[in-house]
Amino acid sequence: MRGHILTLLVPLGAFASSSKPLKARQSTTTVTVNLDQTYQQIDGFGCSEAFQRAVQMSKLSEDKQQQALDLLFSRTSGAGLSILRNGIGSSPDMSSDHMVSIAPKSPGSPSKPLIYTWDGSDNKQLWVSQEAVKRGVRTIYADAWSAPGYMKTNGNDANGGSLCGVSGATCSSGDWRQAYADYLVQYVKFYAQEGVNITHLGFLNEPDLTTSYASMRSSGTQASDFIKILGPTLQKSNLSHVGINCCDTEGWSSQAGMLGQLSSVDQYLSTITAHAYTSSPGSPMNTKHPVWQTEAADLNGAWQAAWYSSGGAGEGMTWANSIYTAVVNANCSAYLYWIGVQGGNTNSKLVRIDGNNVISSKRLWAFGQWSRFVRPGAVRVGVSGAKSGVKTSAFRNTDGAVAVQFINTGSASAALTVKASGGDSFKVGNATAYITDNSHDLDVLASSLNDGTASVNVPSRSMVTLVLQKQ
Ligand SMILES: *[C@@H]1O[C@H](CO)[C@@H](O)[C@H](O)[C@H]1NC(C)=O
Ligand SMILES: *[C@@H]1O[C@H](CO)[C@@H](O)[C@H](O)[C@H]1NC(C)=O
Ligand SMILES: *[C@@H]1O[C@H](CO)[C@@H](O)[C@H](O)[C@H]1NC(C)=O
Ligand SMILES: *[C@@H]1O[C@H](CO)[C@@H](O)[C@H](O)[C@H]1NC(C)=O
Repeated sequence: MRGHILTLLVPLGAFASSSKPLKARQSTTTVTVNLDQTYQQIDGFGCSEAFQRAVQMSKLSEDKQQQALDLLFSRTSGAGLSILRNGIGSSPDMSSDHMVSIAPKSPGSPSKPLIYTWDGSDNKQLWVSQEAVKRGVRTIYADAWSAPGYMKTNGNDANGGSLCGVSGATCSSGDWRQAYADYLVQYVKFYAQEGVNITHLGFLNEPDLTTSYASMRSSGTQASDFIKILGPTLQKSNLSHVGINCCDTEGWSSQAGMLGQLSSVDQYLSTITAHAYTSSPGSPMNTKHPVWQTEAADLNGAWQAAWYSSGGAGEGMTWANSIYTAVVNANCSAYLYWIGVQGGNTNSKLVRIDGNNVISSKRLWAFGQWSRFVRPGAVRVGVSGAKSGVKTSAFRNTDGAVAVQFINTGSASAALTVKASGGDSFKVGNATAYITDNSHDLDVLASSLNDGTASVNVPSRSMVTLVLQKQ
């Protein structure tokens, strides 16, 4: 039944000159990429090395450090991630996995200048940033989990509390909002001095949650009370090109619920950010700002390096699907995993450190199927004719190349032909397909091109990205 309908869509002759003819009995589906139907712009895909995970990386031997960095950021031997999320420290010390503050000691009063101590390392995050930049990363998101304790109602950078001076948070020491804004701007300046451009700045992490590590509570209204000071402070420092991100809530719906309270500072906001823990991105947020999913992971599952076995939380294909849902159904412009590289037996990272070994998971390659080919500035475009069970999306990059993603969730392979329409008569001049499944990590997959129509056979339980270069 399925075969009869689909065969009508593509004349068999289309394969006549194909070097790898598809089996005659296999039905073929024609997917059309509509370059004139445009959706959101993409900022990228990424991860973090916060909470001294960068320090763990730095303890690897030099060659393994380079291998780990390549796995994350290289566009030829790794996932080609394009966003790095750094943690701005708030702790008075570096014990355990604490991120140390750039002004650990209180000046005594918010009217006195902050006492900065820049160590040129930032828990090795500066090094990871520089290495990422070397490999082409241009989007560095610096995010503070909390203000230093002396700026907060609870006098501690951990255990929640609020920034002194926002509504409902008064402190005998005074209003610390301007001091916190100065502090964040100084962090950006320290990085600039070291040659790294921070492009996005955040001042909250999971403000809807109190934890025993760095954490600070905030409502949308309280965030607005601070953004109206941070925005002008960036402007006065000639740093208005640094975008303000908010608010990295623990889940999607929590962030959606804060949007109304942020409307008064709309002119200062760059990007709306949320994590995927308590609820994951399923539908668009009601905002004109780009929306990023900035932290997701299988935090506790035992280390799983496989692509597909039962659809478990740590499997690569599960993450390929999650990215698809976020980008296609929830209008996300970026999607970040929690940690890139670290030790330990859980799936909270993409790449595991085991002794001096660096072991990639298929989660990394799932990210690579997107990130290597859907580059910052790409625009999502329409697709029609997608085969049932094969999640299909497409993007046009700034260099003109079109990247088409296929996630075959079914148990049979899918024979597809792909053509482009619109886009000022975009004519396909080269088609190259890349596959990740249980036995491939972003390997080249056979495909063919015949008169502007590409043909590719997408194996069951695989993700294939087809890159169409303009003629
Ligand atoms: C950082 O910003 C400066 C000034 O805008 C620019 O000249 C430089 O090229 C940027 N560096 C990178 C790596 O983007
Ligand atoms: C910002 O730029 C203006 C114009 O170039 C300059 O006059 C001013 O001193 C700069 N301010 C800072 C804080 O760098
Ligand atoms: C998707 O996000 C863009 C900003 O990146 C916004 O302009 C657009 O309105 C959003 N679309 C929907 C359907 O929410
Ligand atoms: C298409 O591009 C790939 C990857 O860049 C290259 O290896 C291949 O030779 C190109 N094919 C043609 C026909 O230009």
